[in-house]
Amino acid sequence: MSAPDPIETARTLVAGGRGILAADESTGTITKRFQAVGIDSTADTRRAYRELLLTAPGVSEFISGAILYDETIRQTASDGTPFPDMIKERGIIPGIKVDTGAKVLAKAPDEKVTEGLDGLRERITEYVEMGARFAKWRAVITIGEGIPSDYCIHTNAHALARYAALCQEGGLAPIVEPEALIDGDHTIEQCFEATERTLRAVFAELAIQRVSLEGMVLKPNMVIAGKQCPKQASVQEVAEQTIRCLRFTVPAAVPGVAFLSGGQTPQQATAHLDATSRMGPHPWQITFSYARALQDAAMRSWKGDRSRVGTAQQAFYARAQLVSLARRGSYTAEMEEAA
Ligand code: 13P
Repeated sequence: MSAPDPIETARTLVAGGRGILAADESTGTITKRFQAVGIDSTADTRRAYRELLLTAPGVSEFISGAILYDETIRQTASDGTPFPDMIKERGIIPGIKVDTGAKVLAKAPDEKVTEGLDGLRERITEYVEMGARFAKWRAVITIGEGIPSDYCIHTNAHALARYAALCQEGGLAPIVEPEALIDGDHTIEQCFEATERTLRAVFAELAIQRVSLEGMVLKPNMVIAGKQCPKQASVQEVAEQTIRCLRFTVPAAVPGVAFLSGGQTPQQATAHLDATSRMGPHPWQITFSYARALQDAAMRSWKGDRSRVGTAQQAFYARAQLVSLARRGSYTAEMEEAA
């Protein structure tokens, strides 16, 4: 068997009006989200929930790839099929989160650096054998008084590039995710500045570390005011500033930009993606790699109840369809009522 080709994978992930489902919450994170809607978090409820999402009838029309967590990629669906095989059979490319989380950055107590490089080459080999074809690494950039520091941006960019190079060497297409957080009272201008500095540093490191831009997908935040900022920007302004920032910083050789939803409501994340797509043509495919915005309604309607699997799958299908329409610039707010 020849090694999988990251360029081919990256292209497929962002093609055809489809996007990526992030279902790679760490056990701690999914437990918090389950608890918020009254679901017990056990290995089996986590498995059942992720199976529900990935077997939702027809959803591969909208979803090209799914990012899994280490626990999930080792689990089997209820019919005994290993998760990665089950996904592949449904026309969805299996991906894997390979970072081990954001930790406090030494001597910068308000900032974080993402860990997970130790043993990564060997883990990549194992994941490729299990069927994974792409990976994710999320760097966290906090915006606030005097931050992000150059120190935080630089250390995270360096780690992202080390991860990306190792992925491509091993046959995985890396999703490079530097996320400037929406938490805080910062303005959209501050978000623009932090995102621009971060993306410039990330692409400089990717170049130094010989990462093929054609064999990766960028997963950035949108340029948006902080959640607590009294002055919220319009949908159109978010789209304009986001595209402006990306045009300054993201080489045209990158096949696709797949946004994260980052704590926006499902409706906001869909409307912003739509407005961004409508500003095209763009040098890259514009698509999505959402966790919360895609899963919110499904998780709430499932509630851990076996008899509600079908209802939850319909909710997931409906949101995936809207987000896919938005990715093509064909979404309208009226569609929310019909969904
Ligand atoms: P959200 O869409 O919930 O921000 O999650 C995307 C993701 O994968 C964060 O790493």
